[in-house]
Amino acid sequence: MKYSAPRGTVDILPDASGKWEKLERILRTIASNYHVKEMRTPIFEHTELFNRAVGDTTDVVTKEMYTFEDKKGRSITLRPEGTAGIARAYVENKMYALPEKLTKVFYMGPMFRYERPQSGRQRQFHQFGVEMLGVESPYVDVECMMMAITVVKALGLENVTLHINSLGDEESRDAYRKALQDHFRPVLSDLCEDCNARFEKNPLRILDCKVDAKHEAMKTAPKTIDYLSESAKAHFDKVCALLDDLEVDYVIDTNLVRGLDYYSHTVFEIISDDPKLGAGATVGGGGRYNGLVEEIGGPATPGVGFAFGLERLMIALNDNEDDDEGIDAYIMPLGEEARDLGMQISAVLRANGFSVDMDYAGRGFKGQFKSADRFKATYSLLLGEDEVKGEYVNIRDNKTKEQEQVPFEDIVSYLEKGLGL
Ligand code: HAM
Repeated sequence: MKYSAPRGTVDILPDASGKWEKLERILRTIASNYHVKEMRTPIFEHTELFNRAVGDTTDVVTKEMYTFEDKKGRSITLRPEGTAGIARAYVENKMYALPEKLTKVFYMGPMFRYERPQSGRQRQFHQFGVEMLGVESPYVDVECMMMAITVVKALGLENVTLHINSLGDEESRDAYRKALQDHFRPVLSDLCEDCNARFEKNPLRILDCKVDAKHEAMKTAPKTIDYLSESAKAHFDKVCALLDDLEVDYVIDTNLVRGLDYYSHTVFEIISDDPKLGAGATVGGGGRYNGLVEEIGGPATPGVGFAFGLERLMIALNDNEDDDEGIDAYIMPLGEEARDLGMQISAVLRANGFSVDMDYAGRGFKGQFKSADRFKATYSLLLGEDEVKGEYVNIRDNKTKEQEQVPFEDIVSYLEKGLGL
């Protein structure tokens, strides 16, 4: 039997992990610049949480969830996104009662959606997400968008556009819902079964139907922005004014409704035309979700956030430079006695903070020199018969190719000096 990774999953091999680490490092640095701390929630949650939070008419919930029963018959789902888990943990840990009203957190980790795999789309993928809970202010919406823009800029992504829209508050959405129903009612029989079901329950979801996407009625559908209540409009106007003041380029995209149900007010996406991703790829998106915390049993708490797909950022990340810094020393023993000594030396060197590797394959110097090269070792520590007898190592500077005999007890200070420590 030959085993292969399940469809839609990939192995990140050691050669690629350096680039992943680099990406994660950049994201963590940006989070720290925005004073956003990490929060880790479980990778699986009770299914009911996602039905409630993400919405049981969304594609994510109806078609894409990895749901199973655990041994006690509880329905469990691998998280398809991060916001629901953060909101659940925020309520469960009473974070709304913290002295600081605004809680700003980020998360980074795997998410699971049963989708058709293609470039930049997997069944197990990774997100970097940010959630800001507790304060309903357009300033916080803009802080989120600024942070998202900082990410794409830091990664050198080209041809990216910030698309924004407003779904408004409850009052706006009620009016919009009615307008949508009036609009789609006459053509309902043309639309797919799913759309018919959505018509009563959640007509907004008709707009992201993939089957009927080309139907004429989709193009002429009413726009959320025309149904905003006065206060929702004021919120959105302030968001736009702040973006203008900060000289951020953005497009008001009245078709943007997002695929998850918890949104209200501002929604946004970062769309890239970078040729590596294919035209119009969404690298990240988010928005405000003022009703979510209450929906899942917490006190009324506003929130706003976004998430990036890390695979998409990885594809886009310009990365020609070699990030592999290499090791400080590669120990090259010949024979068992030398290997025993090499073990001792490597232990001492590592305890002193050096990065060290050693040959265990029992090869001759020729093969070991090749490894030293591949590992980009600054120094090779040669331990042959003579060295063992004389209680010294031959330290070779792999750049200058110069070699020097160094007594065992002086190796640490020799390397410290050589590496400028
Ligand atoms: P989302 O738009 O569903 O939002 O996902 C955010 C990003 O995750 C997408 O823009 C995309 O880059 C990436 N993504 C989604 N599905 C896949 C997939 N199958 N393979 C690879 N990448 C994928 C959310 O998940 C919200 N929780 C964002 C948010 C946070 N809103 C408020 N706070």
